[in-house]
Amino acid sequence: MLLGVSYDVAAVRACFPALRAGAAHFDGPGGSQVPEPVAAAVAATMTAPLANRGRVTQAERNADDVVLAARQAVADLVAGDPGGVVFGRSMTQLTYDLSRVLSAGWGPGDEVVVTRLDHDANVRPWVQAAHARGATVPWAEFDPATGELAPEAAGGLLTDRTRLVAVTGASNLIGTRPDVAAISALAHDAGALSYVDGVHLTAHAAVDVAALGADLYACSPYKFLGPHCGCVVASPGLLETLHPDKLLPSTDAVPERFELGTLPYELLAGSTAAVDFLAGLGPPAGRAGDRGPEGGRRARLEVGMATLEEHEDRLRERIEDGVRALPGVTVWSRAARRTPTLLLTFEGRDAADAHRFLAGHGVNAPAGSFYAIEASRHLGLGDAGGLRVGLAPYNDDEDVDRLLAALGEWTDSRKACAPPAGRP
Ligand SMILES: Cc1ncc(COP(=O)(O)O)c(C=O)c1O
Repeated sequence: MLLGVSYDVAAVRACFPALRAGAAHFDGPGGSQVPEPVAAAVAATMTAPLANRGRVTQAERNADDVVLAARQAVADLVAGDPGGVVFGRSMTQLTYDLSRVLSAGWGPGDEVVVTRLDHDANVRPWVQAAHARGATVPWAEFDPATGELAPEAAGGLLTDRTRLVAVTGASNLIGTRPDVAAISALAHDAGALSYVDGVHLTAHAAVDVAALGADLYACSPYKFLGPHCGCVVASPGLLETLHPDKLLPSTDAVPERFELGTLPYELLAGSTAAVDFLAGLGPPAGRAGDRGPEGGRRARLEVGMATLEEHEDRLRERIEDGVRALPGVTVWSRAARRTPTLLLTFEGRDAADAHRFLAGHGVNAPAGSFYAIEASRHLGLGDAGGLRVGLAPYNDDEDVDRLLAALGEWTDSRKACAPPAGRP
C-alpha cells in the first residue's frame, strides 16, 4: 500500500538508547533493539507493588491488569481475540507444548504437513510429535530458484488424514511471504488445522489472523521491539477443546491452562509497550503510549505497519541495488512478496568473514542459517547459510550507506589479495 506518508525515522531512532552505541543494526530478524518506553514499562512493572494475579490488593490488581492489557495488545496487533492469547517463554517452547497437546489424538495413518521453508521451531516439534504417534510427515517444498512456496506445494499433499499444516508467515532466512491464506484455505478444505509461524512476519506487516486463516498464530515480542517472550493466538473455542498437562491447583480456564507457572508480568508489560510503539509509527511518527479509544489502536497499527512497510521496502530496494553492483554477490531473497530480509553469499568467500569484517566497521549483520536449516540446505547453502541483512523500524539511509560502503570495501579487499594473473 502506498500511503505517501513520510516516516520520521529520526524521531523513531531517538527512542532507541542502544543506537547511541553507534552500530548500524541489520540484525533485527534475530531480535530487535528496544525503544525506551518498552524498557520503562518493564522497569515500572518491577518497581510497582506486584503479587500473583488477583483483584484484592493493589499488588494483585497490578499483575492482573498487566496480563489483561498484554492479551489485548497482542490481540490488537494481529486482529485476534484477547481471550485466545497465550503467553510463554518463546515461540519454540509454546510450539512444543502445543504440538504435544494437538498430537494427542493423532495415530498411524494421520499426517502433518511441514514446509522446507520454515524455521526449525515450526518443523521439528511437529516432526517429533508425529513420529511419537506413528503419524507421517509430508514435506511441502519451496522452489530454490525463486524462493517461492506455492500453495499447491502444500495443497497437493493434503488428504482426509491430514490433521495439521504448519507454515511460516514469512521466512526468517530469505524473507519469502507465502500465500498463507490460500494454504490455510486448502488445509481447512481437507479438515486440517493451520499453525502459522508469525515470528518473522509480525515485525514487518499488519497481520490479521482471520484473513490468514490461521487457527493458531505464533509470534515473539522480542522480534518486534519487545522483550524476550513468546505468544500464540487462537480462538478461545479451539483452545477449550485442548487439554494440556497442568498442575492440579492451577486454573483450567482458557487461555491460562496453557500458561504453565507464573507469567513474566514485566515482560508482558514491555510487550504491550512494544505494540503501542508500533501503533505510533504512523503519522505523527514515533508517538508511543497513546492507546486512544477502543478499537483505535488496531486502526493505528494498520496505518503504522503500512507506513513502516513502505519505509523498509524503500531501504531494501536500495540495498538490493547496491549489492547487485558488487562483484560475486548472490542475493537469495527473490520471492515476489517478501520481507526486508536479504540473504547474501559471496563467490569463493565465507559469509562468516563478511560478518566479522562488517562488525569491525560498526555494521551488525550476522551469518548463518538462523535455524531455518532445511531452507538453507534446500538452497544448496548447507548449514552455513549466508550473510543476513535484515531491516527494522530504526534503520535509516545512513545505515544503508554504511553497510554498502563496508561490503564494497570487503569485496574489494579480495581483488587486492588475489594472486597476480598467471601465477599458480
Ligand atoms: C521465523 C521464526 N520462527 C521461530 C523462531 C523462534 O522463536 P523463539 O526464539 O521465540 O522461540 C524464530 C527465531 O528466530 C524465527 O525467526
